[in-house]
Amino acid sequence: MKNLTVELKEKKYDILIGEGLLDKLGELLAPFCQDGVIAVVTDENVWGLYRERFFSSLSRAEVAFEAIVLPAGEASKSLDGLSGLYDTFARLSLPRDGLVAAFGGGVVGDLCGLAAATWMRGVGFAQVPTTLLAQVDSSVGGKTAINLVHGKNLVGAFYQPKIVVIDPSTLDSLPEREVRCGMAEVIKYGAIRSTGLFASLAPSASPEPTEETGAALADVIGDCCRIKSEIVSRDEHDFGERMLLNFGHTFGHAIEKQSGFAPCRHGEAVSFGMVLAAGLGERMGLTEPGTADSLRRALSLHGLDADYKGELPALLPALSMDKKSGSGGVRMIMLRRIGEAFVQRVGFDEIKKFLANA
Ligand code: NAD
Ligand code: GLY
Repeated sequence: MKNLTVELKEKKYDILIGEGLLDKLGELLAPFCQDGVIAVVTDENVWGLYRERFFSSLSRAEVAFEAIVLPAGEASKSLDGLSGLYDTFARLSLPRDGLVAAFGGGVVGDLCGLAAATWMRGVGFAQVPTTLLAQVDSSVGGKTAINLVHGKNLVGAFYQPKIVVIDPSTLDSLPEREVRCGMAEVIKYGAIRSTGLFASLAPSASPEPTEETGAALADVIGDCCRIKSEIVSRDEHDFGERMLLNFGHTFGHAIEKQSGFAPCRHGEAVSFGMVLAAGLGERMGLTEPGTADSLRRALSLHGLDADYKGELPALLPALSMDKKSGSGGVRMIMLRRIGEAFVQRVGFDEIKKFLANA
């Protein structure tokens, strides 16, 4: 088992990574729920697959829980989804010292985290991520949010979990498309911070999952969580270094909005967004030539489409709603080269020109 710690100014918490941790979940969560019931927020797919293991694990530790099972998919990360959680918390009389556990992918984690942050001005929160994307990224660092029709993640809060429990064996049931979406975020970590990680991902395109791949995946999850926890420890509230974790997300979020959030998955949109951001950087002379192609290669080795086929100029209005946009431009994450990222304000005129010709 790997044990990492996210060290923040005012608190710290552990990220535990290990095969089979789901079967120890009861004992791992018990210290955060002294008396009372854990409200477990999950989705129908995850609950269908892991209900019994979850039940056994919590029963063994004599921890009581109430499962709140949401429809799977991005549409649950909405005002209606949030309001539904408040209704259930009220029905359960969830107390201020209660615990809410997110058991699922990034959708469940983001929604449940925001509900935990705001219910009675904040109750205890645990992350038990079950997608690759959530295990390498969204469960760590305390960003919680819902989408509005106006854009992605527009309402949210920074709210750190008390613990993150990652069992990579839950990925055995993950559909291939979701594995690919997680790999997009893994490639992002390599692109912004680690040439070693990036190089290790590029040649390993084994089509058949093997035990070795399983072991390697646990290491990759550990690498990504380490990079993220170091960055979050230095910049919890996203004023500087943490922004680098949004590489590919400015274009990516605009693509998600344009596709109505559902048809294009977050990881797929980030893949397109990384290649577009590198292409823009190359066009502006800020990024080493060939970087966009290196990204294309790594993405396609992991089954990801790298070139967005939709209307590029139509992304511009959504870019102006980005949380990092201001008058006349947007603060974008660019690469100097693979492994080295920086923040650059780019004018909308420049972006418009690029999108018209890309
Ligand atoms: P998701 O939560 O929708 O999960 C994807 C699908 O996989 C769902 O259908 C789910 O039911 C299914 N699933 C989950 N675990 C499974 C398992 N073990 N076996 C089989 N099926 C399983 O999507 P996601 O990709 O995990 O998360 C995407 C969301 O995360 C987006 O809303 C994105 O904005 C957010 N996100 C947040 C952060 C952050 O820092 N908070 C970072 C990155 C992404
Ligand atoms: N996923 C970006 C962040 O957590 O900052």
